[in-house]
Amino acid sequence: MDSKQAAMELERLYQDLSVSEQKFKTVADYTSNWEYWINPSGRLEWMSRACQKVTGYAEEEFFKDQHLLESITHPEDATIIRDHLISIGSNAPCTEEIEFRIIHRDGTVRQIQHTCQSVHDASGNYLGRRSANRDVTSQKQAEKEKHYLQAQMLQSAKLASIGTLAAGVAHEINNPLTILLGNLSVLVEQVPIWMKPEFRERFDVLAFQKRVQHMEEAGNRIAAIIGTLLNYSRGDCGTYPCAVDLNQCVVETVAFCKTLLQKSGVEVVCDLAPERPFIVGNIGCLNQVVMNLLTNARDAMDSVTGERKIVIRTRCQGDLSQLIVSDDGAGIPGADVTKIFDPFFSTKSPGKGTGLGLSIVHTIISKWEGSIEVQSKPGEGATFTVSLKTAAALPKASSQKCAA
Ligand SMILES: Nc1ncnc2c1ncn2[C@@H]1O[C@H](COP(=O)(O)OP(=O)(O)OP(=O)(O)O)[C@@H](O)[C@H]1O
Ligand SMILES: [Mg+2]
Repeated sequence: MDSKQAAMELERLYQDLSVSEQKFKTVADYTSNWEYWINPSGRLEWMSRACQKVTGYAEEEFFKDQHLLESITHPEDATIIRDHLISIGSNAPCTEEIEFRIIHRDGTVRQIQHTCQSVHDASGNYLGRRSANRDVTSQKQAEKEKHYLQAQMLQSAKLASIGTLAAGVAHEINNPLTILLGNLSVLVEQVPIWMKPEFRERFDVLAFQKRVQHMEEAGNRIAAIIGTLLNYSRGDCGTYPCAVDLNQCVVETVAFCKTLLQKSGVEVVCDLAPERPFIVGNIGCLNQVVMNLLTNARDAMDSVTGERKIVIRTRCQGDLSQLIVSDDGAGIPGADVTKIFDPFFSTKSPGKGTGLGLSIVHTIISKWEGSIEVQSKPGEGATFTVSLKTAAALPKASSQKCAA
């Protein structure tokens, strides 16, 4: 090759290099991530222009002050960055994704998602790390708002079921309270009279005992109702599971919903297994399961003009205990069957349903490693079957009855 050919070849190589450099610059300058390359001794080799948008500082400022990244790191995340930068000296492959906060030049805090990988030349020599930093501040903020909104919705779902519960409790307590107060006022009136010597012989011990006995029974009934109410507030479904009587839950919940169901003209028929199935769970959460299935069944019968009936069955199937709730309501369209357990899915008018009932039921049942299935056809009602592992070696008792 003569000198003219060599010059032409050099010129061609130079042109190729410029095109390649131009391509690299175009990609690097327009990348929205804040990217950089740090050599094994911790010095910055290259930084993308996007650093200005993410941090408020230009590339030159990072080159001038090699500790700028550490300086703008949020003080609470300083150790995350320090530990990570130390690891750059080693040739170990880096797959770790870290998150840290920086203080932007405008004073705002930005959440950064950081990934990096080791860089090697053609001969395999370690050249440091290439890092990509993504500003995920608005994404994190949106997630936070979504969680807040979900928590608010959960709270209103809870309040709605407390409302249902309160109506049932008020009705249930009212009867024994009337008995208690009625007998008490008779005694308050009569006792001073009986105490007078001239009326002593009129004192009827048996009648007195009977009144006190009625009062005691009424007091015990109120205590039992309050005890059951406390069962609803035993919240955490995952911890401290114990053996829970499925039949008892059905009886208690039906009693609480009695007023509500009667008002809606709904008859509830309970067909409870005589073996008295016990499951491993938490009574408060199991009551919530029964309550949600029951109120859904009732709501599904809003449009039913004739007889409105809900059948609740419990049964033992091998090592499983089952709770089966059937109604003659509107049924569920095929397209909705896969969605009904999703949080916030509801076909009820706004203000009537949050769409959280079945998702809460599903979460509880899954926590206890059980299953819930639904069988339904539009216009032909729905049957929900909950299957849970039976608790081993527990006392058996006779069947229980309930009605509403
Ligand atoms: N027994 C049923 N019959 C017909 N549709 C049902 C039945 N149970 C649930 N659904 C459907 O599933 C949807 C979701 O039920 P879910 O209990 O999760 O929410 P919701 O009842 O609408 O509201 P919430 O329970 O929060 O008050 C209901 O809106 C309804 O369309
Ligand atoms: Mg519901």
